Amino acid sequence: MNDSEIQLNKDGTLRHFLTIDGLNREILTQIMDTAEKFIDFGKREIKKAPLLRGKTVVNLFFEPSTRTRTTFEIAAKRLSADVINLSAQRLSTSKGETLLDTARNLQAMHADLFVIRDTHAGAAYLVAQHLDPDVRVINAGDGRHAHPTQAMLDMFTIRQRYKDFSGLSVAIVGDILHSRVARSQIQAFRLLKVRDVRVIGPNTLLPTDVESLGVTSFSDMREGLEGVDVIIMLRLQRERMTGQLIASEQEYFNFYGLTDEKYKFAKPDAIVMHPGPINRGLEISSEIADGIHSVILPQVANGIAIRMSVLSLVMGGSAAQAAGGNQ
Ligand code: CP
Repeated sequence: MNDSEIQLNKDGTLRHFLTIDGLNREILTQIMDTAEKFIDFGKREIKKAPLLRGKTVVNLFFEPSTRTRTTFEIAAKRLSADVINLSAQRLSTSKGETLLDTARNLQAMHADLFVIRDTHAGAAYLVAQHLDPDVRVINAGDGRHAHPTQAMLDMFTIRQRYKDFSGLSVAIVGDILHSRVARSQIQAFRLLKVRDVRVIGPNTLLPTDVESLGVTSFSDMREGLEGVDVIIMLRLQRERMTGQLIASEQEYFNFYGLTDEKYKFAKPDAIVMHPGPINRGLEISSEIADGIHSVILPQVANGIAIRMSVLSLVMGGSAAQAAGGNQ
């Protein structure tokens, strides 16, 4: 079984959440609809629902993370789970233990759910394949491969602005080659039947076969941004680059950095997104990042509701249960 097969139960419900690939429009819609029920939890006096009461969630992060790790922790705590946070420096993997042995040891301590970020593609899948059948795994980003909860919080943020995905024109800009976020977003856009998905970047940062993913590729910002509703900027992922893929940071910003001037190529009121962390003056100007069209911070906030949704769904919770609220 591959990762898209292993993540579904026999009845088609979510068992693990490893990749957008192989899912269907109904599951993506269910994740967003369930998140909708959690969106106001942060404003409640008691920010808790009992859906994961008595469950232990382990966040295993082998790469740095601000947004994903923190929002998973908040999400699990809002669902009343006990949460353990472990990062590379604090784990015995630094003494040579394998990821799988680490996960098996934590399973022996009766962990119910693992949230895993790793530099290696397939890490979360490997763990999901080898743990007991009642243990759940969520991929919080694996190498260049996938970042499915990021893609879902991005879809949710877009849905807050535009009710219908099918008429949209979206552009993903920058380092597509090394981006797990772009891969997961493209898969989600296709499942949600988005009409026009574009990628824009220098040829050195676009996969050679990128159009086989169902997108149109551009190396010119004016052409690529022409008339789009959504602009998604990506970070240059230097930690995954080998060799010199851009001439200089200044030249990259001149050609591909999103500024007020380049924003004007898009539709008036197009939204600007970025999964973070942002590099001001490299892929995005401060006027744009902090401007009225930016939904970068709403994306972060939506990460909590989406992660509450995914956590509850893989643990067998339904949207109806989710709607129950404080108990
Ligand atoms: N978008 C994202 O994955 O950010 P972090 O690396 O901070 O988790």
